[in-house]
Amino acid sequence: MAPITTILNTFDYLVFGATGDLSLRKLLPSLYLRDKAGQFTSESRIIGISRSHLDTGEYRAKAEEALHRYLPAHEFDAAAWSRFRDRLSYACVDATSDDGWGDLAGRFAGRDDVIRVFYLATSPSLFGPLSERLRASGLVTLKSRVVLEKPIGHDLESARRINDEVGGVFAEEQIYRIDHYLGKETVQNLLALRFANSMFEPLWNAGHIDHVQITVAETVGVESRGGYYETSGALRDMVQNHLMQLVCLVGMEPPVSLDKEAVRDEKIKVLRSLKPIGVENIATATVRGQYRAGAVGGAAVPGYLEEEGIGSDSNTETFVALKAEVRNWRWANVPFYLRTGKRMQEKVSEIVIQFRPIPHSIFPAEVGEVTANRLVVRLQPDEAIGLHLIAKEPGPGGIRLREVPLNLSFAETFKNRFPDAYERLLMDVVRGNPTLFMRRDEVEAAWIWTERILDAWEARSERPKPYIAGTSGPSQAIALIERDGRTWHDDPVFPAR
Ligand code: BG6
Repeated sequence: MAPITTILNTFDYLVFGATGDLSLRKLLPSLYLRDKAGQFTSESRIIGISRSHLDTGEYRAKAEEALHRYLPAHEFDAAAWSRFRDRLSYACVDATSDDGWGDLAGRFAGRDDVIRVFYLATSPSLFGPLSERLRASGLVTLKSRVVLEKPIGHDLESARRINDEVGGVFAEEQIYRIDHYLGKETVQNLLALRFANSMFEPLWNAGHIDHVQITVAETVGVESRGGYYETSGALRDMVQNHLMQLVCLVGMEPPVSLDKEAVRDEKIKVLRSLKPIGVENIATATVRGQYRAGAVGGAAVPGYLEEEGIGSDSNTETFVALKAEVRNWRWANVPFYLRTGKRMQEKVSEIVIQFRPIPHSIFPAEVGEVTANRLVVRLQPDEAIGLHLIAKEPGPGGIRLREVPLNLSFAETFKNRFPDAYERLLMDVVRGNPTLFMRRDEVEAAWIWTERILDAWEARSERPKPYIAGTSGPSQAIALIERDGRTWHDDPVFPAR
């Protein structure tokens, strides 16, 4: 078996956007935890880079504060921090001028044969200019890799432009487009479930599956990200990337191996098979929502329009429900119902595979309903896989049937700590393994499908449907699935309101 922790080759990790939310909340804590696990050589370095005028001492203090804030207290270890602090430095560089580049380049003399990672945790509009400056400063080596945070662009055209600009400096094999959902434990477990067990694959098709539901619900609102979110909305922020990647992993044909191209070749076929949603079917296949003031977890929260940085007449959606259809032999007439939203009742991400009902029941109605089997893959929280089966309730007096879950809780079965998705993906970049990253054609295929929906929404110029914060979204989302004679699997994801 592969060892859990292997020591990586020496690397230099350059994190652009180093004072931003993502760097402080996710990237630094993830790097620290991998360092604490003993994966880094003593020569490996991490350089935080942004426009802020800070020195290394000030940046280290910021990093320490972030670790205290975003990691559970027991993860902070004085010796591990001291080691991490010593490899962490800071550089002030401006992406749009020459400021700071000479100094930055000077820090890499004699290190051209060391793996060099440029992590661009910045606005996508800077991906091109930063790549160009990296080249002009002589920082791009054969051992360099660049990581692009989502969103890659705002639409197909901007995505293509960014891909062209970055592709003019880096070869495609050097470009790692991150979608952190692909690094989540249970998302990877989908691959194990489907392709390391013989019992599911024969049933994994339209003959046996009635439909699929994918829910990614969050309790948070837009927090301090109003500026970004206003240019994005739920479709661009969550569906174009995270949810579509989940559709791909559920829907793809078995790849011939775990090789990066084999997996990505199968995923893109799913994206290309998606039935377009445009003006002709936008009203029946999609619902956009926007939260109003309400209460989440007992605390009152403002509506989207009252959030910081949001205009009082904003038309941005914070919730989307969609009926997606994969048009191929495997999935003909098996809808994939997707929904995601902010300020929902619960934070939960689940994939539900709803099997077809039995063809004929030998049981009289009074012994209980023979509901169709359901496989639930819970991505977060409490990673688990549940198979809902019908069983006989124990006891005398004839047969009584009941639906019972066969639950595999990952936390109970595997006592290991579950690493954050970023921990795995940041290390995959150093290892040079892009399997869990998006290829250019995948991102563009996802945009082609998404952009049509955006255009159709614009053409209809309808306002998003309001929903109260702390609920399961607008009632129109319930109607979207009920029109097809189906219901959202709301227990325990979204208990009845
Ligand atoms: C990010 C989105 O990509 O994913 C955020 O930009 C969202 O808006 C986040 O909150 C959700 O990630 P997770 O891992 O908490 O489900």
